Amino acid sequence: MYVCVCKAVTDKQIKSAISNGYCSRKDLNKCLGVGTVCGKCSPHVKQLLDEHRVQTPIMWAAA
Ligand code: FES
Repeated sequence: MYVCVCKAVTDKQIKSAISNGYCSRKDLNKCLGVGTVCGKCSPHVKQLLDEHRVQTPIMWAAA
């Protein structure tokens, strides 16, 4: 499914980029161009990032 119509970017491309380490909207803007024309796709891109971003465990330092 196309997420960004302006740049013809699909959800699969975005998920693939996220799994390859592009973990912010700024990263995805640079590598795929999503959100750089009209910006209407930005909420959906954010949603995909929230759902598919690899979670980094928080390591608490012992005091
Ligand atoms: Fe993505 Fe227009 S739909 S910039």
